[in-house]
Amino acid sequence: MVIKEAKFLMSNTKVEQCPAPTMPEYAFIGRSNVGKSSLINMLTEQKGLAKTSAQPGKTQLINHFLINDSWYLVDLPGYGYAKVSKGAREDWRKMINYYFQNRENLACVFVLIDSRHEPLKQDLDFINYLGNLGVPFVLVFTKADKQSSVKTDSTIAAYKRKLRETWDELPHIFVTSSEKRVGREELLNFIEEVNGQ
Ligand code: GTP
Ligand code: MG
Repeated sequence: MVIKEAKFLMSNTKVEQCPAPTMPEYAFIGRSNVGKSSLINMLTEQKGLAKTSAQPGKTQLINHFLINDSWYLVDLPGYGYAKVSKGAREDWRKMINYYFQNRENLACVFVLIDSRHEPLKQDLDFINYLGNLGVPFVLVFTKADKQSSVKTDSTIAAYKRKLRETWDELPHIFVTSSEKRVGREELLNFIEEVNGQ
């Protein structure tokens, strides 16, 4: 798929204030700093479209981007940032939970996972939570440029082993590097396919 146009629409904390749910929507989530905003910029080929930062916790709201006037990309705030207060973490949990349970045009969630790390409880818990909600999702292993493909493969294999303990069917898996533009075609083709369904 070719991205002809990508524009920022709005930031919200409330699903009711999000753009009308008339087009399919793809949401990016994962631990703080995993590379959600960078991946949106890589896919749309617009460096500053989603705000990125080396400091975790940059994205705080539900951010909608309109692509080719026909579908939405959504940048969500990450989880797992240690410096966040208990209250703020609870607010995040409520906002995200409400979003996943009520956003009727949600076509698929991209759960981003840092390809450098062995399976983390926070990520596994989040995947299991989505699976139990019945929300369609895929796994996206990020920052593949940071280590050898052997290491990335071993991280993925470890996640698969863990997930098989709970689930019969495994989600679709992508490997990306926003730095090296790895995985762009694969993700865009996937979106095109889901849009066409
Ligand atoms: P929050 O909004 O804070 O939850 O973070 P985020 O998940 O949106 O991460 P963001 O895209 O802001 O990236 C975090 C840091 O990781 C930045 O310093 C990015 O430059 C870096 N980064 C993101 N993706 C990649 C990648 O594919 N390769 C490398 N080497 N660095 C990356
Ligand atoms: Mg971000």
